[in-house]
Amino acid sequence: MNKNVDAKTSETEKFIIAGNWKMNKTPEEAKNFLEEFLFNVKSSECKIILFVPFIDIEKSVNLIKESNINVIIGAQNFYWRDSGAYTGEISIPMLKAIGTKILLVGHSERRINFKETDKEINEKIKKATKSDMNVILCVGETLNQRKSGKEKEVIMLQLEKALKNVRKELISQISIAYEPIWAIGTGETAVPEDANKMCKFIKMCIEKMYNGDKKSNLKVLYGGSVDKENFKEFFKMPYIDGVLTGGASLSADSFSHMVKVADTIVKDF
Ligand code: PGA
Repeated sequence: MNKNVDAKTSETEKFIIAGNWKMNKTPEEAKNFLEEFLFNVKSSECKIILFVPFIDIEKSVNLIKESNINVIIGAQNFYWRDSGAYTGEISIPMLKAIGTKILLVGHSERRINFKETDKEINEKIKKATKSDMNVILCVGETLNQRKSGKEKEVIMLQLEKALKNVRKELISQISIAYEPIWAIGTGETAVPEDANKMCKFIKMCIEKMYNGDKKSNLKVLYGGSVDKENFKEFFKMPYIDGVLTGGASLSADSFSHMVKVADTIVKDF
């Protein structure tokens, strides 16, 4: 099966290139990155998303507004209550007020380092979707789970728990990032064909969970040690709609390189 490339260049079918800066970049560094990126990339057929630290959101949104290219600025975390005595937390209304358009939920670093549970992930997804926000939900198995052949079971459970009681009409606001934990920040990517199988499996799970709804047009990204060289192999896979990059999104040079190469691949098809 080949990707429908004509469709891919239409608004709903754009290849997604997302970056997650994690705990990197001061506002000054964010500004330098975006100025260089916007100088390198004047237009694109890709859907470009950057998950930046809270303190960089406002500056990034303003810099993008002044440019001709639409880079969607997202937050890496939030709390699911609107306001109140929750010291240190940031809510969706606060994020919306500074122009945040998309939220990252369930990243393995939050699940592992900050002990975020499936229940909390579910609360976040319910709140975000009801608040008209778009979401990228991350799922992924450990190396041991993969070695013992449990990867599909693990992913299915993560999806079911994260999306519990999320209504069918809100599912179009959600994309999924398949990020095997053993591939994150390790330099070791999944074999593109394996990642493709898992992304296909995720689409089937969602279809099943939402009563065979084939029209949901769910986007599934691959993430885990994607870089400016290997991303092309994922781009070509029929069930992979985009990439979520960590390390490779930190340099404007490598991030813009990926966007520019993706654009030439679309044109050459
Ligand atoms: P990485 O991170 O590209 O540095 O492996 C990916 C991620 O955590 O989303």
